[in-house]
Amino acid sequence: MTINQPRRVLIIGASRGIGFELVRQYLSEGWEVRATTRTPDHPGRLGKLSGDLTIHPLDVRDSEQLTLLARSVGHVDVAIHNAGVGLRIPRAEMMAVNADAPISAVEALLDAGAMAPGGKAVLVTSQMGARRGREGSLGDYGDSKAALNDEFRQRAPDWAARGLIAIVLHPGWVRTDMGGSSATLSVEASVAGIRELVAGLTESHHGRFWTWDGREHPW
Ligand SMILES: NC(=O)c1ccc[n+]([C@@H]2O[C@H](COP(=O)([O-])OP(=O)(O)OC[C@H]3O[C@@H](n4cnc5c(N)ncnc54)[C@H](OP(=O)(O)O)[C@@H]3O)[C@@H](O)[C@H]2O)c1
Repeated sequence: MTINQPRRVLIIGASRGIGFELVRQYLSEGWEVRATTRTPDHPGRLGKLSGDLTIHPLDVRDSEQLTLLARSVGHVDVAIHNAGVGLRIPRAEMMAVNADAPISAVEALLDAGAMAPGGKAVLVTSQMGARRGREGSLGDYGDSKAALNDEFRQRAPDWAARGLIAIVLHPGWVRTDMGGSSATLSVEASVAGIRELVAGLTESHHGRFWTWDGREHPW
């Protein structure tokens, strides 16, 4: 008889939108969930979920908080960096949150030994960061996600050597605060697709750009 060990997932940026739904669905599947929010003292809907959930404080721009998280979270099988900012945000913050923070998070988890070989890391990007050979600016948001994609491709060989399976992911155009009410995809459907993709990730997916429904996206 095979006994399924509980699996542990870390969701970075879990207060609402796609991140919250990731927490909800992984908990309902019996996973141990470690979730971060900037406001752990006011967890809102996160605090009402049942299951094996631990909430950690993290503003993804705060390197001390990140180091503390990486050292205290324990071993994680899957880490999803979902936190992101959209419109009407100063460009510097956009870059810090969307481009720099996901890379720093993976590095911190690896350095702390929180991810063993075979661990999976998903960095949420956007199709708006796809250059597809275009020259010039993609707008602040697109530029920030393109910068994430560029840095991800630089780091991917080293991360592979350290045993990690890492991808960047476009979650679809999703009805959240960021995506707006006209978006084509429900948050439930996006997250169900993301979870299916994550479950099937192998070394052959590493270092590439995927969509929520399992299609490869051009850079
Ligand atoms: N929705 C879409 O159509 C769409 C499309 C393409 C890509 N994406 C990407 O998908 C991800 C999730 O988007 P969403 O639609 O769920 O957005 P959302 O509803 O606006 O939620 C954004 C999340 O990021 C967190 N966050 C923002 N800045 C942070 C910081 N400095 N430190 C820690 N957490 C921070 C927010 O926390 P607070 O509650 O504390 O602000 C919130 O949990 C983002 O990376 C976004 O760029 C979304």
